[in-house]
Amino acid sequence: MLRVAIVGMGPIGNLHADCYQEFALSELVGVCDINKERADAASKRLGVPAFYDAGEMLAQLQPDICGITTGGYEYSSDHYEPTMQAFEAGCNVLGEKPISNEIDKAEEMVALARKKGLRYGVNLNHRFTPLARKAKNWVDEGRLGDLLFINMAMWIKNPVESSPWFHLKALHPHTVDVMRYYCGDITHVQCFAIKGPGRSIWSTAHFNMQFANGVVGGLTGSYDIERGHPMERCEVAGTDGRFVLEDMFDQLTLYPAGSAEKTVITNTAFGPFSEKTFADTFRNRIQRFVEQVFQGVPPKQIDGSGADALAAQKILAAAIESVQEGTVVEVK
Ligand SMILES: NC(=O)c1ccc[n+]([C@@H]2O[C@H](COP(=O)([O-])OP(=O)(O)OC[C@H]3O[C@@H](n4cnc5c(N)ncnc54)[C@H](O)[C@@H]3O)[C@@H](O)[C@H]2O)c1
Repeated sequence: MLRVAIVGMGPIGNLHADCYQEFALSELVGVCDINKERADAASKRLGVPAFYDAGEMLAQLQPDICGITTGGYEYSSDHYEPTMQAFEAGCNVLGEKPISNEIDKAEEMVALARKKGLRYGVNLNHRFTPLARKAKNWVDEGRLGDLLFINMAMWIKNPVESSPWFHLKALHPHTVDVMRYYCGDITHVQCFAIKGPGRSIWSTAHFNMQFANGVVGGLTGSYDIERGHPMERCEVAGTDGRFVLEDMFDQLTLYPAGSAEKTVITNTAFGPFSEKTFADTFRNRIQRFVEQVFQGVPPKQIDGSGADALAAQKILAAAIESVQEGTVVEVK
């Protein structure tokens, strides 16, 4: 049984805690927040000790896994410090996204995990749904033939205006990760962005991308559209077929090339593809990390790793540079 402690007991930390308590392979042993009320409320609800200092909790509990569900500026500035503390304490870490919008800090976090031989996962939950994995199997089995293009889109309403690039930095770690999941590394980015009606930030954007394997792709995103209908769509096409994945876990369709027949997998209430709420995507992702740590997989083989999260942030940084400079930017 793996012992898990969590730093950052906001709504998301509480969601992570519920998952660890539910799984057979993990046990929640402590929660920490610098906000005493939040730490105490989570401690009472979950029945585990409260801490107000991450270092103290790590020293006392010595957990196998530390969940880092802090937030901060652009939803990420507070992750760095406790993540570094957790690696120094010898814990495997499952952190929240974005890993960090300061690329040098993200690099330090990934480098320290590597140096210590620890497993570092990030909650890139969109790639962990059963339908997303099914689509990945189709790609790996060659059902699409040689990959050609990818079209990705995600749109929600988020009125927060805390920074000019908030939409790109906070929403698109997910979409870019899904694109990398199916098509690999991205080498070049061009991005156009607009400020939606009444907005002062770059709230809607379109990215053009070139992948290392020659695939071309587009990503459209917005913080200007009220949710109600599906909010995410991913289409990947190759010489032998094309799939469309709607809303991460809602419906997956395979359109074989040159055929009028298609395969549709709909998320039903029963069976292996049952996944009905956004919280379910957390369960699938966190469970995968727990299993991989339990099995002792090499750190390099962690799905949705810190390195994957860092790669996504580099692409977003390149996209921002592209908007600012009006150029195509090489991702380094
Ligand atoms: N993966 C997803 O789909 C998804 C969805 C929503 C949010 N998120 C991410 O989850 C994270 C948390 O979101 P939230 O809404 O719960 O944030 P929040 O700001 O409500 O909660 C974060 C908590 O961390 C605490 N904290 C900060 N630094 C700390 C430290 N050093 N030690 C102990 N506690 C510390 C804060 O006091 C706060 O209570 C964000 O990074 C966000 O981007 C991910």
